[in-house]
Parts: sequence; structure tokens; C-alpha cells
Amino acid sequence: MNPVTTDTEATSPQSGGSGLLGRYIDLGRVGPLLQSFSDSAGVASAVIDLDGHVLTAARWQPLCVEFHRRHPETLRRCIESDTSLAARMRVGDRAAVYTCLNGLTDAAAPIIVDGRHLANAFVGQFLTAPPDVDFFARQAERFGFDRESYLRALAQVPVLSKEKACAALEFIASSAGMLTDMGREGLMKEQAEQRLRRTLERLRKSVDAAVGALTHTVEMRDPYTAGHQERVSELSVAIGRKLALRSRSITSLRIAGLIHDLGKIAVPAEILSKPGALTEHEWRLLREHPETAFRILREMRFPGPVARIVRDHHERLDGSGYPRGITGEAVHVESRIIAVADVVEAMSSHRPYRPALGIGAALAEIQAGRDTTLDSQAVDACVDLFRRDGFAFSQAS
Ligand SMILES: [Fe+2]
Repeated sequence: MNPVTTDTEATSPQSGGSGLLGRYIDLGRVGPLLQSFSDSAGVASAVIDLDGHVLTAARWQPLCVEFHRRHPETLRRCIESDTSLAARMRVGDRAAVYTCLNGLTDAAAPIIVDGRHLANAFVGQFLTAPPDVDFFARQAERFGFDRESYLRALAQVPVLSKEKACAALEFIASSAGMLTDMGREGLMKEQAEQRLRRTLERLRKSVDAAVGALTHTVEMRDPYTAGHQERVSELSVAIGRKLALRSRSITSLRIAGLIHDLGKIAVPAEILSKPGALTEHEWRLLREHPETAFRILREMRFPGPVARIVRDHHERLDGSGYPRGITGEAVHVESRIIAVADVVEAMSSHRPYRPALGIGAALAEIQAGRDTTLDSQAVDACVDLFRRDGFAFSQAS
């Protein structure tokens, strides 16, 4: 057993590359198992991929590391041994044994995952009978190895009885079986993760489709504010990102922004598009829209408290908002952000009862409410976005 490795790997045959097999098998668990087997049986063991990379190995023999791998001819023989063994392996094989031209014996068993032969489990660098010392002495002479040190290294090579060789083979076959099972588990885990990712993507798409339908439902009844919710969503997300909110909050902001005026579907269309001032009764009806939206959305499972964020988007920090008149921290962070974005978008856009007031007036308005009605961090982030970062709505109002 003498795989194609770098010199560093050859002299210290620990874990090498992992490749495809490493995706499915926890080599960190396999290494200690091979080590304890090699320590107790006195033979080298390894998992080697089909390209000859040592993925994990234990107890390399000095005869191989210090001699056979150092001379091109003996190295060629080692590689030939591995290649012959690997080439013999077939799906369904239990194990194979091969004695290399350098005089040592290796045994290997295939590791098959999902019908694919990915690697071999090896035990090797042993003898099945006491060594023919003359053969090895001639080998030392032929390849220029120091005879004394070479024979000393030879003396360390284990001679396995038939029973021990069978036990080693049995071990290697069952290890390969275990590695195959681990690989199958790894493969199943990977496939399950892929399925989960696909399901989440499908869910995300259906949430987006449902949100899109709700957005357009409101805009069909209130065409004067067409695009308002998209722009509030866009600005809210930008403010949230500037405040370094978590991705879950950003997702909630995006969705809540897109449907924050959903409750207006219960407000008569003539109130929504009335050019003049509203009567007290009309105001009361209009001010119900956050609570109406909450009742519609609360049973829907969004990624985050979207229904509550929508309910609170007209609340103000000093309690002057609606529908509940709550104050300070009781108002969701995301609702405070949408409140700021809502004011800015509404003032900078045209309305049936007035022309667009412009972004300058909108920013002055939110700054006037800083810390009394509106969240100071959200206001500052929003002003920074327009004044320093060059933020502009992607859709015209
Ligand atoms: Fe609103």
C-alpha cells in the first residue's frame, strides 16, 4: 500500500484531501477508528480515494515511507500495487488481496455510496509468511538502500498468520461497509437538505405571490396610492439595513411594507379618493384600517410578526397615534421604521387632495417629529439615506 501522495503525506500519512467522499463521510470519526485498529493489529490502514489521495491513514511502515517511496522504481511498484487493487474492485466485492513487487501484501475493500465506487479502505504493508531476507537484501543492493537500516525496517513489518490476515480482511470489509453506510447517511442528509431548501424556496415564492395579490387588491380600490406600498417597503428595507437589523426583521419589513395599508379594502372608495378634507366620521372609518389589516393577517403564517407590525404602523412614540395609542418601546421597531417611510413616501408623492410636497419637505417633517412622535434612529437613518447615500425610489410615484 503506497498511494500517490506528496512527500509530506508520505512521511506523515495523516489525513489528506477529502473530495467527494469527504462530503458524505465524517473522516474525523474514521481516523481514530483506523488508528486504534492499526495499533492493536500492528498493520497499516487507510482510506484512499480512486485518485490515490490518502484521506485518512494510520501506522505507515518505515519500510515503505523511508525506502520504497524514496526510489522511483520501488515507488512505481507501490503505485502499481494500489492501482491493481483499485482496478480489481467492483461494486459488490467484499475485499481483495494483492502482494506487490516490493514483497509486501495489501488488502482492500471498496467504499460504495449510492452505487458509486468512491474510494477503498486498505489494510496493508504486512507479510503473510516470514520474510525471505535474501530477497530483501538483494532489493537493498539493487536500489542502493542501506542494507542494515532496510533490514531493520523489514523486521518491523508484521507477519500475519492466516487467522490474523483473515481478521484484518474482515475488519477492512466491515469498515468499508460502515463507511458505505456513513456515506449513504451523508448522501441522504444532503438530499434532505436540498429538498428542504427547495420547499423553503417554494414557500417563499407562495408568500410573495400572496403578498403581491394583497398589495394589488388595495391598489385596485385606491389607485391614487398605486405604488405607495412598494415604495414604503423599499425605503423601510433600506432603513432597516442601515440600522443593521437582522435578516428576519428585514424580511418582515419588506412584507409588512408591501401590505401595510391592506385594511383600506374595508374603507369606502369615495373616502380613499376624496379630494377635500374628511369628516369626523370618515376619519374614524379610515383610522380603522390598521386593525382591519391585523384581523386579516393574524392567521397567516409569515416569517415574522407581520400582522402586528402592520397594526402598529400609525402608532406614535408619544401615544398620539392609532389604533391603540401605545407609546415608546411598545411600538415594534419595524412599525416605527414603516411609520417614518410612510410619512416620507406620502409627502413626497402626489395625492388627490394636494400636489407632491417634495423630499425636502418630507425629511423636514420627520425631523420635526424626531423623538417625540417618530423613532430618532429610524429618522436619522432615513435622512442619511437621502442626503448622503443618494437613495431614490426605484419606481416613480
Ligand atoms: Fe396606513
